[in-house]
Amino acid sequence: MSEIARVGVVGGGLMGSGIAEVTARAGLDTLVVEVDQDAADGAQKRVEASLDRALKRQKITEDERATAGSRLRFGTSLAELADRDLVVEAASEDERTKLDLFSTIGAILTQDDAVLASNTSSIPIVKLGAVSGRPGQVMGVHFFNPAPVMQLVELVPSLTTSSDTTERMRGFVTDALGKEPIEATDRAGFVVNSLLVPYLLSAIRMYEAGYASAADIDQGMVLGCGHPMGPLALSDLIGLDTVRAIGLSMYGEFKEPLYSPPPLLDRMVDAGLVGKKSGRGFYDYSA
Ligand SMILES: NC(=O)c1ccc[n+]([C@@H]2O[C@H](COP(=O)([O-])OP(=O)(O)OC[C@H]3O[C@@H](n4cnc5c(N)ncnc54)[C@H](O)[C@@H]3O)[C@@H](O)[C@H]2O)c1
Repeated sequence: MSEIARVGVVGGGLMGSGIAEVTARAGLDTLVVEVDQDAADGAQKRVEASLDRALKRQKITEDERATAGSRLRFGTSLAELADRDLVVEAASEDERTKLDLFSTIGAILTQDDAVLASNTSSIPIVKLGAVSGRPGQVMGVHFFNPAPVMQLVELVPSLTTSSDTTERMRGFVTDALGKEPIEATDRAGFVVNSLLVPYLLSAIRMYEAGYASAADIDQGMVLGCGHPMGPLALSDLIGLDTVRAIGLSMYGEFKEPLYSPPPLLDRMVDAGLVGKKSGRGFYDYSA
């Protein structure tokens, strides 16, 4: 089995840009593919800014900064992924988008053992494998936000993932990236979001019902439970569109009312108030 040296990241938003930074900092040749040139430029800016912050905070040296920068490329053509040993799909949390990507990229990869991973939070991995033409090499490799900082990676093999692929990704995440894997079953939400998302949705329902202000709900969980940030600030950081999409997938799978997005979340997403990445969510980030 070939060593993983060339990585592709599809989607360079919040997560894709973080994952690309992680693989570039690990010394791997990293190609990020976005939908158009504007989005590719945006991804590049995000990664460069994050590397500069890491340098300023002395998390990396000048040399490491320069090496990571030289490992990164940004483009708009999926065809350029042909020679990759690993592709991590980190496009928007939308099943149709991901199914199209898995069927296209599955046919583009030239190496038989190339792994096609998804960073999805809630879409069934088995479905992505089924359309890829290479189900044995498809699995969930779920990073956390911000990817360069958070240690956890959930490994999610589906019913059709080969044990070689799972073990290869476990070794890669541990040895090449220096992160800590846990293994979860291919059920919407895996371990972390199954616990986290109903909590976030409950906080949004509480705010919508007028129990308390957003600041007081968040302060309650920060000071009362020792959480690093409250649920509404965390929802803004994740992206309200992503929180809603994960809730919908989990509700679709389990029909648990607690997973169903409340109307306020629907309205905020419809209005484009999706949190920090758009400048406004439960809080205003325009300044
Ligand atoms: N936000 C989080 O905290 C978080 C954490 C873990 C996992 N995830 C998962 O990571 C994935 C990405 O989430 P995000 O927060 O980065 O979203 P995001 O909205 O910040 O970025 C998504 C990016 O995907 C791009 N994209 C959409 N369709 C594409 C296509 N066909 N080809 C290439 N690029 C495409 C968009 O242009 C956008 O830049 C989702 O599956 C999400 O569930 C998110």
